[in-house]
Amino acid sequence: MKIHVSDLKIGMFVQDICGRWINNPFWRNSMMIENFDHLEQFRSSSLDYVWVNPSKGRGLEPESEIEDEEERPPAASPPAPKITKIIKENSTPSFDGEYERARLFSKHMLSTLDFALSDTINSGTVDHQSLSEINSDVVRSVSRNPNALVSLMLNEQFKRGYDQQHALSLSALMVALGMQLNLDRETLTRVGMAGLLMDIGKTALPQALMKKQGKLTEEEFELVKQHPILGKEILTKSGIHDEIVLDVCLNHHERSDGSGYRQGLTNDQLSLPAKMAAVCDVYHAIISTKNYSGTYNPAIAIRKMTEWQSAHFDRSVFQAFVRVVGVYPVGTLLQLRSGRIGVVIQQVENLAKPTVKIFYSLKTNSYIAPEIVDLTKSKDEIVCIDHHSTGLVVPF
Ligand SMILES: [Fe+2]
Repeated sequence: MKIHVSDLKIGMFVQDICGRWINNPFWRNSMMIENFDHLEQFRSSSLDYVWVNPSKGRGLEPESEIEDEEERPPAASPPAPKITKIIKENSTPSFDGEYERARLFSKHMLSTLDFALSDTINSGTVDHQSLSEINSDVVRSVSRNPNALVSLMLNEQFKRGYDQQHALSLSALMVALGMQLNLDRETLTRVGMAGLLMDIGKTALPQALMKKQGKLTEEEFELVKQHPILGKEILTKSGIHDEIVLDVCLNHHERSDGSGYRQGLTNDQLSLPAKMAAVCDVYHAIISTKNYSGTYNPAIAIRKMTEWQSAHFDRSVFQAFVRVVGVYPVGTLLQLRSGRIGVVIQQVENLAKPTVKIFYSLKTNSYIAPEIVDLTKSKDEIVCIDHHSTGLVVPF
């Protein structure tokens, strides 16, 4: 029987979903609703209706049934059965709700990653189980709201350090990009795992080198270039033989024109996941604070990458990535015509008019009470972006 997700009860057996699989919060076709968490995840998903099998669980209450002319025999006479229809005004889980949820579980994920990476440094193997659980959380979060976890990872500096946050950010970016490219459920999970593990080879390098701030010498850079092959050795030694994970680990520093490393492969020799990894890795690296002499405002990063695109990235993958992060990516500081400054917190369909959290007034030169502004519905507009590495305001 087809019912609205708001009518689901604990004890019901969901046989199937009505809608795209990507919207299924549990990534499986059927399941028993066992607790409130299951209920909450269905209700906060973008699903409207599901199919419930009453022979395998709790039955339906009559008022929960949904009118469906194709299934319901024509009524012989009035009165018509009582029908309850609930229309969701906004079926997409809110950014704020998912952001807070991601904030809660990301601390646990980063702590687990911290432990797992330390363990890999000591043992030379990967705790596959722990990382798979982290990856499942990433995939679920990004599928509920593609912006929230990505925004959290790109905006906030966590205590666990760069490498952990880099791995988690890459996983979230790979899954969000995979969704944009309409990859299937299984492949999304695999590219998320590839994001987590692409730099695992760095655990085999001297840790003093990995902690070094600033520019590397030529010799040091030659050492760093070994991390893809070192990573593959760690993965295979750990019993991880997924082709996508291995391929991304080996080839995420290759570039479309053959100028990358390890083998100088060109665009037509690279797989889709490797092309995705190249874009996600460069983006996160140049907006972060490690290994680059200067970091870029996310919007400037996209402009720089647009300049590099023809040589370094696959065109269609890069275009999909821009649709994920936007022309003004999450984390970009913006000045509005009203004299207020805010940070981009969410993309909408109109990439030129993101949702912004306002927090500062140039008129009073002071912080103001935070306010969320949807620029598609506001008369205010973007007038410039702030290059936060130099303090210069870059007009456009
Ligand atoms: Fe790398």
